[in-house]
Amino acid sequence: MMILTRYTEPKYRTIHDAKENELELLKEKSANSAWKPGYHIHPGYGLMNDPNGLAYFNGEFHVFYQWYPFGAIHGMKHWAHVKSADLVNWERLPTAIVPVEEYDSHGAYSGASLEIEGELYLYYTGNIKYNAEERSANQCLAIMDKNGDIRKHETNPIIKGVPVGYTGHVRDPKVFKKDDRYYMLLGAQRSNLTGAIIVYESNDARNWTFKGELDLELDLPDSCYMLECPDYFELNGQDVLVVSPQGLEAEEHAYQNLYNVMYVLGELDIEHLTFKVSSHHELDKGFDFYAPQTFEGKNGERLLFGWAGMGEIDYPSDKEDWAHCLTTPRELDIVNGRIIQKPARELKKLRKHSESAELRLEDGSKEWSPGSVQYELEISLQSIEAGTFGIELFASETESLVLEFNRSAQAVTLNRENFKEKFGGEHGFERSSKLTIGETVNIQIFVDRSIAEIFINDGAVVFTSRVFPDVESTGINVFSDGKLNGSYHRHELSCRSLL
Ligand code: FRU
Repeated sequence: MMILTRYTEPKYRTIHDAKENELELLKEKSANSAWKPGYHIHPGYGLMNDPNGLAYFNGEFHVFYQWYPFGAIHGMKHWAHVKSADLVNWERLPTAIVPVEEYDSHGAYSGASLEIEGELYLYYTGNIKYNAEERSANQCLAIMDKNGDIRKHETNPIIKGVPVGYTGHVRDPKVFKKDDRYYMLLGAQRSNLTGAIIVYESNDARNWTFKGELDLELDLPDSCYMLECPDYFELNGQDVLVVSPQGLEAEEHAYQNLYNVMYVLGELDIEHLTFKVSSHHELDKGFDFYAPQTFEGKNGERLLFGWAGMGEIDYPSDKEDWAHCLTTPRELDIVNGRIIQKPARELKKLRKHSESAELRLEDGSKEWSPGSVQYELEISLQSIEAGTFGIELFASETESLVLEFNRSAQAVTLNRENFKEKFGGEHGFERSSKLTIGETVNIQIFVDRSIAEIFINDGAVVFTSRVFPDVESTGINVFSDGKLNGSYHRHELSCRSLL
């Protein structure tokens, strides 16, 4: 008789296995961190990664996220849950999905949601590990009703195992409806270890059959070994696919992180499994951005949250037993064949008091403002004659995050080397993007204790980055090697939700 023993490691524990007071102690330890964001969704303790199941459902915004409770490592993933009436003040709810079943024995991995007949269907991947190297995956369903009660579906797993021709890396379901039929996109790895997106179909969103692989016409290099977290939506009459490929080669001004996020514009013919590509680009140029998801907001707008983090990197907050946060919600649009990202309009509700001033810079000059650690900054620069100019955030005598515009290179760079708490240096301290720099530039920045989200030229280029500054590093400097005029508004944002 064969005896099957379940593969175990200390990191494969759920909250139900917590020792007495263990969770309370973890909570206490990370509660007083000066780096905990004020208005960005973050974990109380433990590690957060991808946003999951995003929805505006039954009059409230729901955000679920990947969560490992017992410290800052990628262990047994749960779905944590927060909700909000206004998209800016968030409330924690009980853990939505705890992986205690055979079919999700090593984690409830990422997935998306879809509202069906007044209930929110939460699709996720049940991760299965046989040993340290070998794995499989089941696709699973949990359903949240209007009272907020969540139950795992009785026929789970709704898809057992992976189709022939693929490795155990098949995950992150995205379900949508088209012409009365449901389709599920999954990130996958072919048996030859290259990345793909595969598709299942269904009449009732519960019983699924394998349809095939999406022909993406993307010409991804063979080094691309996995496509994670596919998302699909229509925007301004175009089909958009957002995906997180792993194993891309870095380019001069793109894909400079270990893992990256790409969006693809074109035309999806799901019936024939083709995506005709008109263009594709990197979505965010910062150091910490991965596995984003989108959903439809209150007014039909397309909203996005991303994970403001990166795998395989140790972050300074790890020693406080918590890690990562999400981006602020962003509203997407397509302008001149590119996705632009703007902070969701709801974020204006966070503004408390504001200050404004003119900026007049000469060669070599700097203008200084004392700053704080939770603010929104809007800067508009005109009559730029300077060759290089920019802005330092989290600035003090010894630290600063430097955003520098270079006119002759027609590029913008972000450098985070200048901090006592350096991290991620193995992948470089600088990120860059091409940018058409004329006589005017506008910049909108959201700073929240240990994160800066920088939107340039109305969201044409966005950098999402974490930094872990000293408590004194709160200053803002605008610098220039030539003449420029402009003005800024700084809004103090005083929200402290999800303590
Ligand atoms: C992306 C990812 C997903 C997976 C999840 C596990 O960051 O690797 O592919 O479902 O994280 O936490």
